[in-house]
Amino acid sequence: MDLGYRDRFHIPRTANGTDSAYLCAHSLGLQPKSTRAYIEQELNDWELLGVEGHFRARHPWVEYNKLLTDQTARLVGAMPIEVVTMNSLTVNLHLMMVSFYRPTPQRHRIVIEENAFPSDRYAVVSQIQFHGFDPAESLVAVTGEEELEDLLECQGESVALIMMGGINYSSGRAFDLACVTRAGHAHGCVVGFDVAHAAGNLALKLHESDADFAVWCTYKYLNGGPGSVAGCFVHERHARAESLPRFAGWWGHELETRFRMGPDFHATPGAEGWQVSNPPVVALAALRASMDLFDEAGIDRLRARSVELTGYLESQLDRHADGAFSIVTPRDPGHRGAQLSIRVCGSVRAVWERLAAAGVICDWREPDILRVAPAPLYNTFEDIDRFVDLFVRSR
Ligand SMILES: Cc1ncc(COP(=O)(O)O)c(C=O)c1O
Repeated sequence: MDLGYRDRFHIPRTANGTDSAYLCAHSLGLQPKSTRAYIEQELNDWELLGVEGHFRARHPWVEYNKLLTDQTARLVGAMPIEVVTMNSLTVNLHLMMVSFYRPTPQRHRIVIEENAFPSDRYAVVSQIQFHGFDPAESLVAVTGEEELEDLLECQGESVALIMMGGINYSSGRAFDLACVTRAGHAHGCVVGFDVAHAAGNLALKLHESDADFAVWCTYKYLNGGPGSVAGCFVHERHARAESLPRFAGWWGHELETRFRMGPDFHATPGAEGWQVSNPPVVALAALRASMDLFDEAGIDRLRARSVELTGYLESQLDRHADGAFSIVTPRDPGHRGAQLSIRVCGSVRAVWERLAAAGVICDWREPDILRVAPAPLYNTFEDIDRFVDLFVRSR
């Protein structure tokens, strides 16, 4: 069953003018055809209204980010007060750690997943160092939920923060957010997630997971465009936690009194209270174009279609199994999203180049992983056939 959204996206063309088979949503999603109009609306209002656009634009800029609140909450399974769209992913991760990583000499460790995305690791290491601790002592990596539970049993009282990916960028493995959070909270740890590879991919239930915070980017499955504005979740129980330290800025100040320009900071309750600066409206307009499509299609329907597409990709690859490649992503659809990661014998780069030259777009990561992700909004079974056919012949 085709969901009927493919025609609403620009599909990149091959050299001979045909549609490419674009299987790279895990890296950069495609542009909705409506994006240009959403951006033009703001450019026109700026052209006609100048500064007045803050209050008189069709969508007044002073509250522009609120246009994304309800649909973001629906997308990630959160309450509206728990989400905000701001900054970029790694910046949001730092802002969250400023508030939620409060190490003491007894409890200073951060647990991440093995082979975490480098930026997450750099951010975590720099936070540990910022607090005067030694990453060799304070940073611990675990392979998954079981190893995490073992670690917490033995050394849980030394762990301040667990910060894992929703889906690992390299293996494509999905972690059970509720299970990780339960284990962490049982040992007194704060628990946060980087759901960059899960947002718009899995039907997340961030509120139910009970995580303290989560961050994600919107340029992958969420099609917000290169470097688009990122997302942030702060659990409702922290909505009015004034004791939490934060790096404040005027846009986190409550709106009613923000423009009195007073000297004291009064945080907006909820995730919006972590905003620092006034938001980039033109960039948010691009994101709205895609989020409106997600809202229309519904994440549960998209996820069901995604399971079919990725299952088909898996079955077609299995038909050609010859020992020269292996799927490293879990076989259970409950433990993965759209992406399959394929370990390739020989040069993965050479395989990727041959695919790209024939208009089949995926990507690769060191040392030997080809990443392929059919996106339910715009990919077809035919895209998958093209990939598998060429992949089998390209090795
Ligand atoms: C899991 C993960 N974390 C962090 C990042 C870094 O994101 P940004 O450059 O938007 O901060 C990425 C980027 O792809 C990612 O996949």
